[in-house]
Amino acid sequence: MRVLGIESSCDETAAALYCSDAGLLSHVLHSQTSTHARYGGVVPELASRDHVRKIAGLVREALNEAGLARGEIDAVAYTAGPGLLGALMVGAGFAKGLALSLGRPALAVHHMEGHLLAPLLESPAPSFPFLALLVSGGHTQIVDVRGHGDYRLLGESIDDAVGEAFDKSAKLMGLGYPGGAALSALARTGDPKRLRFARPMTDRPGMDMSFSGLKTAVAVALSGGAEPADVAAGFEAAVVETLTIKMARALRAVGPRPLVAAGGVAANEPLRRALVALAAEHDVAVFFPRLAFCTDNAAMIALAGALRLSAGEQDATSAFGGLARWPLAALSPPGRE
Ligand code: KG4
Ligand code: ZN
Repeated sequence: MRVLGIESSCDETAAALYCSDAGLLSHVLHSQTSTHARYGGVVPELASRDHVRKIAGLVREALNEAGLARGEIDAVAYTAGPGLLGALMVGAGFAKGLALSLGRPALAVHHMEGHLLAPLLESPAPSFPFLALLVSGGHTQIVDVRGHGDYRLLGESIDDAVGEAFDKSAKLMGLGYPGGAALSALARTGDPKRLRFARPMTDRPGMDMSFSGLKTAVAVALSGGAEPADVAAGFEAAVVETLTIKMARALRAVGPRPLVAAGGVAANEPLRRALVALAAEHDVAVFFPRLAFCTDNAAMIALAGALRLSAGEQDATSAFGGLARWPLAALSPPGRE
């Protein structure tokens, strides 16, 4: 089965084609970062307008790259949430219109399920059950993935998402938006031991996290005259160690199982190294999506849609366009509503 995936939840417009036999056929993406950079963050109205401008061309491009005609698509999967409502509705409206015109089902995909399943686009791929660390600009969650659609939330950030903490700290350092990758590059030139930041909530039991205090500590250190490179290195070390401590706890709670890290911050090199070391220590495997599939993309949406379609998921053409908030644990395995 061939599924067209459409992603438009935030500031990336993307389209991809996934085939349940042949795997990923094509994926294309337009990033709006240059549109939003001058505002220091995503402007929702501008995001929606740009999705409208780009979406049809990207879908055409994805079809051309895959060598497919529209009529050869078996379903259209779209990101239905969580995300910016206006942005979501552009993708949902386009996907449903296309599905209706082709007489094929439209499939509503949860953006975080897309991130969670992105490592399945790689080879070797993890098999269920696994323990996932979802780290993006909007989410920081540790999820016990018992099966497809069977997710138990073990812990999450009670305030800022870890990507948000990276971006806000990067902004304080004048690194632009989104600055996670730039902060990490700057950290490589600094000394991670010169400034010791707290490892928030690691002295308390459980797997919940908090990252808003770290951003404040970064602001205090910078205004005290500390070298930005050392602040970046100290900040990144604190984030990575905190996430690793929480993941070690989660592993002890659920027992040994493969680890998965996904979402934009899973592109972070020191975090990847720390999780590889943690996995080795516990004698379990660890899986990451390739860097382009850590951040937002449509390949993960096409894959998540294809898995749900083959498991009997129903058509969502008449569902409401988008859900700004949608807890991952509210999902059920496909076909079991
Ligand atoms: O998954 P994503 O593309 O969008 C959301 O669904 O939020 O994640 C974007 C986040 C941003 O906060 C960005 O700064 C962060 O991922 N990010 C990184 C790195 N690459 C992207 N953070 C730290 N290190 C990186 N190398
Ligand atoms: Zn995302």
